[in-house]
Amino acid sequence: MNHFLDIHLTDPKDLRSIIDHASAMKTARLGRPRGALDDDQPLKDRMVALIFEKPSTRTRVSFDVGVRQMGGQTMVLSGSDMQLGHGETIADTARVLSRYVDLIMIRTFDEAVLTEMAEYATVPVINGLTDRTHPCQIMADVMTFEEHRGPIKGKKVVWSGDGNNVCASFLHAAGQFGFDLTFTGPPTLDPEPEFVDLARAKGSTIVIERDPDKAVAGADLVVADTWVSMHDAQSARERRHNQLRPYQVNAELMAKAKPDALFMHCLPAHRDEEATSEVMDGPHSVIFDEAENRLHAQKAIMRWCLEL
Ligand code: CP
Ligand code: NVA
Repeated sequence: MNHFLDIHLTDPKDLRSIIDHASAMKTARLGRPRGALDDDQPLKDRMVALIFEKPSTRTRVSFDVGVRQMGGQTMVLSGSDMQLGHGETIADTARVLSRYVDLIMIRTFDEAVLTEMAEYATVPVINGLTDRTHPCQIMADVMTFEEHRGPIKGKKVVWSGDGNNVCASFLHAAGQFGFDLTFTGPPTLDPEPEFVDLARAKGSTIVIERDPDKAVAGADLVVADTWVSMHDAQSARERRHNQLRPYQVNAELMAKAKPDALFMHCLPAHRDEEATSEVMDGPHSVIFDEAENRLHAQKAIMRWCLEL
């Protein structure tokens, strides 16, 4: 079963073929209306369930549009409206949904919900973000980097801020795609050591550097994300802001990276908090290409899952 649960759990050759396939599908659609069907309609007669236990704009719309472009149908389900949110087990939900649909994408809190869904589903399951990881985002980000700058292998990525779920998937990708990553942020918000060790074990140079100015030296890509994620307690907001303010990505910091460095943010952003509007709308930024590439990358992920 080709579940797409995490980047480190997917074979590097498969990851590469997904990115290449996504780029080819993107090119094939150039100039066509968003609602036009892909010529081959690989998801014709297929039904995809999209389950959200957290809010979403990009994941929700890009999966829905992607399935439709490929000729399939979707149902978008809110966790709280399902029996899942009212005590039905994940295992039973997975077995029931597998009788109705061909593919399940789930955005949830606890990673255990995703893994249990995958264990009991008899159709492929895709991780649309958990508290711990966000693999679809980083597939789109690798695709975006390579579109602008060529192979990401050997490049230096700098993550500035909270060592959160998106950072974790960047670390997984570092190991699988062969790039280096420097994390800069306060010690209390370091990425999980397990993810750092995994990337190092695969040969990536992973550096923890508390000084953001030093961290970005020689960076090919600088990445920021929200300082307070959906799963973080709102009561921690003020403390996190105070800790993370020195790690804001602003024009001064970007100027210390390579002159042609790119800036990424998975969005949604809190403008002028984790990154300034000057950077987000400036010449280094590729944030809206990232958002677009969610669509193309996920189409390729779904085709890989279904072997289509
Ligand atoms: N980047 C991302 O996953 O955005 P959404 O939360 O809007 O889906
Ligand atoms: N780290 C953010 C990413 C949102 C796409 C969160 O989990 O809220």
